[in-house]
Amino acid sequence: MATYYRSSTIKSKWTKTKWLLGTDVQSYVPKTLPFSQENLRTMLSQYSTVFFKPTTGSGGFNIVRIKKLGSGYQVQHNSVRNHYLTIDGVYRQLLKRSSQRDYLLQKGIRLAKANGRPFDIRVMVQKPNDGPWTSTALFTKVGRPGKVATNYHQGGEIGFFQQTLSRAGYSSERIEQKENELKRLGEAVGRIFDKRYSGFRELGLDVALDESGKAWILEVNTRPTFYPLRNMGDRSLHRKIMSYARQYGRLR
Ligand SMILES: Nc1ncnc2c1ncn2[C@@H]1O[C@H](COP(=O)(O)OP(=O)(O)O)[C@@H](O)[C@H]1O
Ligand SMILES: [Mg+2]
Repeated sequence: MATYYRSSTIKSKWTKTKWLLGTDVQSYVPKTLPFSQENLRTMLSQYSTVFFKPTTGSGGFNIVRIKKLGSGYQVQHNSVRNHYLTIDGVYRQLLKRSSQRDYLLQKGIRLAKANGRPFDIRVMVQKPNDGPWTSTALFTKVGRPGKVATNYHQGGEIGFFQQTLSRAGYSSERIEQKENELKRLGEAVGRIFDKRYSGFRELGLDVALDESGKAWILEVNTRPTFYPLRNMGDRSLHRKIMSYARQYGRLR
């Protein structure tokens, strides 16, 4: 369903990723390249896991994970895994998918786990009528076991930031540090996007924590959904986002 409200939108993950390179948040951006045979070779020579994702995709659909094994490669889409002995075998398989649309390759991040389930973080950042970019909410998406994407549409569950990180073994002190770091990161990305294109009022960063706790920006959404937050026992996050969203005419 189309939504009409005043905030610019950019679909290409490749465009948005390039906007972050050469800025002070560059160290948060995992290596990303357009899909090609040569780039697949380069990425698999550098990383043990590589993600293949549609440049203009959303909802966690058509996300493929490629993992190097002792011998050969595992390629997983949804819960389905296939094995290939060579990079050329992997390439031919991915090429079939890429005939319809463009794809990117991205360094795979080994997601931190909460109670054994991988999760990532949504940083919601919004700009009020008069005032600077503000990180208004952080929440987590806890993936369904056996899937490669944590999205709500892939069976992921929405969680509270503090609760999920605590389940991942973070102390309250470290949780507070991460919260401050990620809020500052969201606000920095808002300012960077403003320099590239006008009219942004909201952004939703998908941020992964790796097993050492380092944060990585997987993508920046310009049409972030947050309606699943309405079903959380505590609706204060949803209320806070909506109080900003109404200022640019977003009603849901
Ligand atoms: N580089 C990556 N490393 C680890 N997991 C990833 C990576 N890229 C994507 N994912 C997983 O797939 C999900 C969807 O990817 P994302 O880039 O956010 O695309 P979409 O627009 O479909 O949400 C992420 O939330 C994450 O769970
Ligand atoms: Mg996403």
